[in-house]
This record gives sequence, structure tokens and C-alpha cells, in this order.
Amino acid sequence: ALTARLDRPIVLVGLMGAGKSTVGRRLATILKCSFIDADDAIEEAARLPIAEIFSEFGEAYFRDGERRVIARLMEENHGIIATGGGAFINAETRALILEGAIAVWIDCDLATLVERTGRRDNRPLLRDGDPEAILSRLMKERAPYYAQAHIRVEGQRGPHTRTAWAIIEGI
Ligand code: S3P
Repeated sequence: ALTARLDRPIVLVGLMGAGKSTVGRRLATILKCSFIDADDAIEEAARLPIAEIFSEFGEAYFRDGERRVIARLMEENHGIIATGGGAFINAETRALILEGAIAVWIDCDLATLVERTGRRDNRPLLRDGDPEAILSRLMKERAPYYAQAHIRVEGQRGPHTRTAWAIIEGI
């Protein structure tokens, strides 16, 4: 019954470390639908890690490729799509998601974001300074955009499966 109601993809947005990919996988398992991570799809299309796309071609080039990949993933009818933290900040990408998907903001406190992003050194935006200060700034800058998502859930509390269920309750 739940799967029958999914007439459009669920697109997860929110900051780095909010848990978009993990929650997305759990959600797809519960809803018995497919899951795809947009960052993985971008790396596959470019045959380069995201950090290298940033360093070789710049952020603007990345954002453009990101928008095209997300548009394709939405057309391919994936049930759940996790996006990179900046995707929803780009006006065109945001419009695309808001029009064709259910946008879910996984909101998360700073301490949790710092802890989770600190486990891997794969985020170019966190490399040029103190990750906590950068995340704190991005949180303030990006909150007004994330707040435009259709649904907001808290990402810091409890296991990721609980966040997945909060999304189902919110839909
Ligand atoms: C970015 C987030 C990353 C990745 C890139 C830029 C951002 O994705 O797309 O490093 O601007 O917030 P995650 O949110 O999956 O870490």
C-alpha cells in the first residue's frame, strides 16, 4: 500500500553528514523501492571522485553536472534519491526537485554533522578550514533553502531507521 502511493521520487536534502544516504537506503528497504545516491551517480558519469571534479573543474561545473544527473535520476523513476548537500541550494536544481519529487529535509544538529563528516576526508568544502566553523556557516546560509522542502525530519536522534520511519509518517 505504501509503495502504491509513491507516484514521484522522494529526494533527500540536507547538509553533509545529515545521514541522507544511510536514511535513503533504509527508506528504500522499508518501502521496497530503489535507492540511488546522486553523488555516486555523478562520480560514475564523470569517472572522477567529487573532490577531483571540484579541484579540476570548479564548483560551478560540478553544480551543473549535478543538476543534469539529478534530472536524469528523477526521470529513471528511482524511488529514493539522496542528493549532495549543496544540490538543493542551486535554484534550478531546487525547482526541479520541488516540481517533480517529494523533497525531504533531514535537519541535523551541528555536533552530529561534525562527528559524522569527520569519519572521512571526502568533502572538498570542508578541506579549506575548520570543518565545524564551515558547517556552522553553511547551516545558517542554507537553512532558508532547505526549509522550502515539502517535509522536514530530525536526523540526529536515534538510529537511521527511526528517521526513515519519521519520513514515512510525514508523507
Ligand atoms: C556538498 C556535499 C557533498 C558533495 C560535495 C558538495 C555540499 O555531498 O556533493 O562535496 O555542497 O554540501 P554530501 O552531502 O553527501 O556529503
